[in-house]
Amino acid sequence: MSNRTLAIIKPDAVGKGYTGKIIDRILSAGFNVLGAKLVHLSREKAEGFYAVHTERPFFNDLVDFMTSGPCMPLVVEHDGAVNAFRTLIGSTNPAEADEGTIRKDFAESIQNNAVHGSDSNENAEKEIAFFFTSEEIHPN
Ligand code: CMP
Repeated sequence: MSNRTLAIIKPDAVGKGYTGKIIDRILSAGFNVLGAKLVHLSREKAEGFYAVHTERPFFNDLVDFMTSGPCMPLVVEHDGAVNAFRTLIGSTNPAEADEGTIRKDFAESIQNNAVHGSDSNENAEKEIAFFFTSEEIHPN
């Protein structure tokens, strides 16, 4: 089981000033932050990150949203990081997210859902490499 996953604090949450509060939730849940940066994604980069969703009806709106302002990718570490992080953030749709999850408390819609978390160990490693070089990841 991998111990790392990629998180992104998305433009809606960064724009509303929730970055610090969300990082505090992540640390309070026992994750270590091994890497972090603030980036404003180009259209090309956002399309590449979400390439698996190219055929979805929401793809163009999703790319518009992800390029609407800066976001904060994070490399986070925890036992069973992928599942632990997905539990912490809650369902994709905040209306369906459990009480106390990050999306329940900070997301506004199924698209503008405050945070991203990788959905498998394989994708976690790919997504970490999409944003971070090995020199930008700092083991605790
Ligand atoms: P994320 O976990 O980053 O993975 C894909 C993203 O697409 C998702 O969060 C949402 O931001 C967005 N998304 C997923 N499903 C829908 C939907 N039905 N309508 C609009 N956006 C969606």
